[in-house]
Amino acid sequence: MTNMYDVIIPAAGMGKRMQADKNKILLTINDKSILEHTVSAFQNDNHCRKIHLAAQRDEIDTLKSMLQAYDKIGVITEGGSERQYSIYNVLKAIEPCDYVFVHDAARPFISQATLNNLYTAVQSNKSVIAGVKVKDTIKRVQDNKVAETLKRDLLWQIQTPQAFDYNLLLEAYNKADADQFLGTDDASLVERISEVHIVESDYDNIKITTPEDMFFAEAILKKRGIICLG
Ligand code: CTP
Ligand code: MG
Repeated sequence: MTNMYDVIIPAAGMGKRMQADKNKILLTINDKSILEHTVSAFQNDNHCRKIHLAAQRDEIDTLKSMLQAYDKIGVITEGGSERQYSIYNVLKAIEPCDYVFVHDAARPFISQATLNNLYTAVQSNKSVIAGVKVKDTIKRVQDNKVAETLKRDLLWQIQTPQAFDYNLLLEAYNKADADQFLGTDDASLVERISEVHIVESDYDNIKITTPEDMFFAEAILKKRGIICLG
């Protein structure tokens, strides 16, 4: 098959806000680690060629053995002190390919529908990110006072995956490195050199971040009928 994509999964965080005794991506939901839930989605996607990861140095072996059964696993590279540096390390380590998706290890509920939509869109747009419309009113606040109420119908909450033409993403990362620009997502690097398109995703695609997210995670699996209501 032509025009397949490789995915980079940053998994080298500390999971500090989860306050667990280990990296949150190793916590289990329904007897499977969060990381395996995430990797499974890409293992099962026919358009995905290889799955590459960034890991903490002392967790590389743990991840390798945990992911032995997934035959799309490519490089597992040591991460950096920031998410952006972790992804850059992987991007520099992989062979050139057509498209690169970047997806947080901590988002185990990515749907096949969103993967399909991103895959279709990236072939014509080179740079496409998943997001949902915000549900709450968002205000800009300064010194505990409202500075501005933003127009909600213009606001989107951005998730991963973020999908890019390989050369465009590498150029964006090289430029960020040269300029010492640190962004909060991959698209913010690409926005400095190109336009970025949006694909509407869904509200199940949460990033497991704080302890209550583990309860939301179980609820999502129940909704999908993967675990029984109890
Ligand atoms: N990540 C990474 N390298 C880092 C920081 C984060 O690869 N230096 C990864 C995390 O493993 C996670 C994803 O980027 O899959 C999103 O980051 P986040 O949800 O913030 O996870 P952590 O940084 O681990 O959590 P926290 O910020 O609470 O410490
Ligand atoms: Mg973090």
